[in-house]
Amino acid sequence: MLRTLWARRPLRWLLAFAALVALWGVGRLTQVAWQSLYSGERLPYLQRLAPTQVTIRWQTVEDSEGVVRYGPDSRLEFTAGEGRGRQHEVVLEGLHAGTRYFYAAGGHEPASFVTPPTPGSDVPVRLWAIGDSGQVGEGLLAVRDAAVRWMEANPRGDRPLFDAGLALGDNAYRSGTNPQYQAAYFGPYGALLRAFMFWPAYGNHDARRWTYFRVMTLPENGEAGGIPSGTEHWYAFDHGPVHVVVLDSEASDRASDGPMLQWLREDLAANRLPWLIAVMHHPPCTDASHRSDDPGDSGGRMRDMRENALPILEAGGVDLVLSGHSHSYERSHLLDCHYGTSDTLVPGMVMARGGDGAVFEKPSAGRAAHEGAVYVVAGSSSKLDSAEFGHPAIAASQRRLGSVVIDVAGKRLDARFIDSEGSVRDRFAIVKGSGTVRPNVCR
Ligand SMILES: [Fe+2]
Repeated sequence: MLRTLWARRPLRWLLAFAALVALWGVGRLTQVAWQSLYSGERLPYLQRLAPTQVTIRWQTVEDSEGVVRYGPDSRLEFTAGEGRGRQHEVVLEGLHAGTRYFYAAGGHEPASFVTPPTPGSDVPVRLWAIGDSGQVGEGLLAVRDAAVRWMEANPRGDRPLFDAGLALGDNAYRSGTNPQYQAAYFGPYGALLRAFMFWPAYGNHDARRWTYFRVMTLPENGEAGGIPSGTEHWYAFDHGPVHVVVLDSEASDRASDGPMLQWLREDLAANRLPWLIAVMHHPPCTDASHRSDDPGDSGGRMRDMRENALPILEAGGVDLVLSGHSHSYERSHLLDCHYGTSDTLVPGMVMARGGDGAVFEKPSAGRAAHEGAVYVVAGSSSKLDSAEFGHPAIAASQRRLGSVVIDVAGKRLDARFIDSEGSVRDRFAIVKGSGTVRPNVCR
């Protein structure tokens, strides 16, 4: 049969081409599988930190016992463990909310972390957002150190340096391989990852290899707050008065009636916390190294999230939406119902305008639909790219390396873009229970 086909010249070429494609496919698959492996040491890091449980992960070069000793003080009176192996994942359960625990995983020196408070507690919360932080080099280190220095210089009484990190996606360039994750994430952020939970979003570079979901342990069953998502691609967590939803704008169905956005609707309908923050790698509004007006840019993901996710988020009372992807900083006015391209922006969609230092008022004291949200692109935590900055919804833009520190206290949220030298280059606040209800195009 094959010999007969081979005898025909056009088919001969087709068969040869098919064989080449198959060969390339096998080679590529092998390469992807190989790059998902990392056999070096990985120091202990926190995953799925919730008020009553945490997962401790680490990796050893040789087989070793997966044992964690832990407790509320340095005596480490409790023990949890699994069998021998190289990749360790130990769950500590029965913890108390808002409590510091000390732990020693494997033979590593002890570290400590603080469990989140009981959801709904009116405690001050500090979140630190890094975006597109995966480029190894001076920029990454400068951004990290400048933000840590700023937080140390601006402490919150006896509270920790911050409460949780948000990694907005593209956490390891170029292809999110396991060795690249070690070099860009677990290496430079290692000392922080063992004491603080960094909640990640899935970026396009993370999706190039099979590593992200192998190194992360994320809440599929609502362990950290919100309703179960049934997947690690998207999930929610609570921290005191703040509910955070993390969406997968890269690889999951972005249709309004798809599973992710159906979950989002149900999760937000069940949410009772006063503050709502959303995270998605692809920004709904950007005019920088990516352009949200261009439906061909990033496979239409920015358009999809803007058209499909934003109406649900704004109906759920979202206050702040954090993204990366464009390698710069962009921050919007207080927006509502802007779901089209930039030329569809009309005055009724801008609830309040404000450059550096803006204070945006939202009349309801708690969660309320369509009182305005601020959209932040913070994709410059390790590298910069070209940026034109012409989007009319954007109030402040900076082509600078940096990251964003968000403080929520009572009815006020303060966000600051801190550049790689430690200067605050943009700040804004959202104050609830203040101002009057403004009409907008959605009402
Ligand atoms: Fe990206």
